[in-house]
Amino acid sequence: MLVTEQERLKSDIGTWLERYGRDRSALIPVLQEIQKKYTRISEYGMQVLADQLGIHPVEVYSVVSFYAFLDHKPKGKFVIRLCRTVSCDMQGKARVAQQLESDLGITFGETTSDGKFSLEWANCLGMCDQGPALLVNDIVYTRVTPAMVNDILETCRKTFGVYALESTHEEGHA
Ligand code: FES
Repeated sequence: MLVTEQERLKSDIGTWLERYGRDRSALIPVLQEIQKKYTRISEYGMQVLADQLGIHPVEVYSVVSFYAFLDHKPKGKFVIRLCRTVSCDMQGKARVAQQLESDLGITFGETTSDGKFSLEWANCLGMCDQGPALLVNDIVYTRVTPAMVNDILETCRKTFGVYALESTHEEGHA
């Protein structure tokens, strides 16, 4: 992680602690913010958060390891989470999973080498009557068929151009 990126992360953590409070109850919300903005929670981020909350870094690390939605491994810009719970399973989740793996050339738990996509399993997303359901970052897709997978990925790829422009723009003003 570059020094400037570390500084930015440290300053972001300070801002989020102002918002959520400087006590243990802020731990998970701030970790979620880090995950959302930086796509992973680095050791440096865990250390800074522990220092600011006055707790041991091991405590932060154990929270990150416990909650599957928090991750210290780098993730793609688009994290696709396919529901594997029983209703979606019965409505054809396996065929959607196969299509995702074949289109992206990775298996579940992996990230594409260009850093764009990560594939993960999710448990029930609350859309059981409209399965198979999946999440792309915060967006829910329902009644997903293998034929829809290509369109979903294309939408992400188009959006990625916008993301890339935005981050260049932000860095220019950092
Ligand atoms: Fe998949 Fe509930 S079982 S959304």
